Amino acid sequence: MYINVAVLKETQPHEQRVALVPAVVEKLIKLGAKLHMQSGAGEAISLTDAAFNDVSFIDDPLLLVRDADLVLAVQAPALEVINAMKEGAILVSFVYAQQNPALVQQLIDKKITCFAMERLPRITRAQSMDALSTQSALAGYYAVMLGATHLNRILPKITTAAGAIGPAKVLVMGLGVAGLEAIATAHRLGAVVEGYDVRPETQEQALSLGAKFVETGIDARGKGGYARQLTAEEQHKVAEILTQHIQQADLIITTAAIPGKASPKLISKVQVTGMKAGAVIVDLSAEGGGNCEDTKPGETIKIGLVTIIAPLNVPSMLGEDASELYAKNQYNLLVLMMKNNVIEIDWNDEILAKTALTHDGKLMDAGKVLDKPTSLTA
Ligand SMILES: NC(=O)c1ccc[n+]([C@@H]2O[C@H](COP(=O)([O-])OP(=O)(O)OC[C@H]3O[C@@H](n4cnc5c(N)ncnc54)[C@H](O)[C@@H]3O)[C@@H](O)[C@H]2O)c1
Repeated sequence: MYINVAVLKETQPHEQRVALVPAVVEKLIKLGAKLHMQSGAGEAISLTDAAFNDVSFIDDPLLLVRDADLVLAVQAPALEVINAMKEGAILVSFVYAQQNPALVQQLIDKKITCFAMERLPRITRAQSMDALSTQSALAGYYAVMLGATHLNRILPKITTAAGAIGPAKVLVMGLGVAGLEAIATAHRLGAVVEGYDVRPETQEQALSLGAKFVETGIDARGKGGYARQLTAEEQHKVAEILTQHIQQADLIITTAAIPGKASPKLISKVQVTGMKAGAVIVDLSAEGGGNCEDTKPGETIKIGLVTIIAPLNVPSMLGEDASELYAKNQYNLLVLMMKNNVIEIDWNDEILAKTALTHDGKLMDAGKVLDKPTSLTA
């Protein structure tokens, strides 16, 4: 007995990642997987098919998934791929159901059990499976790199015989996983760093990474460790306090997000016009519309002498590391359901119950626990 696993090549524009890397192959085989991959799945990150031992390669994605018990991907597959999957099979990938209603309907119609990586509960036991966190950490690091290469000055203090140059000032707005990694990176590179967030617990985290914290007196802790939207009055108060920090910064990195909502606007057009000449904003929230009123998602623009960079899918730009961490996150999730060469889903396990998006022709309520375990064998 074995579990038939299919790993797709990504098809979304600019997606370089792949859901399986050679370091995870043996581990999956030990769990009972028979591995099949789409030809060229790793080519965007220079991983040739030959780099994967004990994996069979198939060109046609529809043929690849036809007999699979378990399909692995980074982004949700195309509708025709879901349609080619066998009824009752399992899909594990990012899905973002709200943006993909047709896909969700297809998953329901085909009775696919879909585990959507973005739904994983942020609990301690699930940390090793948390792909949002690993991908955000890489994005936070890369935001500093992008910003640094667009600045026409250096980040650390430097002393030469001709005189000294002081360190650059970096302001990081939104201190989730990406923001904290951006603080750590900018601090390591010698910048003077400030952090700001509406969740007060981030103050201690920012300080521990070497940043100062911009206090606004607003507590906007929402559900599940996430932030809530600010009221108009709160936004006004925050803007007053933030303006001088924004205007003193050489580099601003914004990462603020509220699940299911458009990115909150943290930097107004007026604030941009008051920024230092040559300053750079890296807006990591471009996917949700951006944290700066001037942001153009996917573009790098100049407003006066200020550069605003708003890249999309930043983790994919570091595809090699992003794929490795993603594949390990997925493996750690799969350990919960691949046992003794069969798939067995314990719906009493909070992680599986909450991560599931669809099962047996139904949409899963977050955390709704089903009575009976289901199993799948090949
Ligand atoms: N326990 C775990 O395993 C675990 C793992 C990862 C993350 N988490 C927690 O999950 C939560 C979300 O993390 P994330 O990285 O997904 O965050 P996120 O991407 O949802 O948001 C990024 C940050 O933006 C902030 N934000 C929202 N609106 C803002 C505004 N108007 N002004 C300033 N900042 C604003 C949020 O507070 C958050 O810190 C955090 O509490 C984090 O600590 C827990």
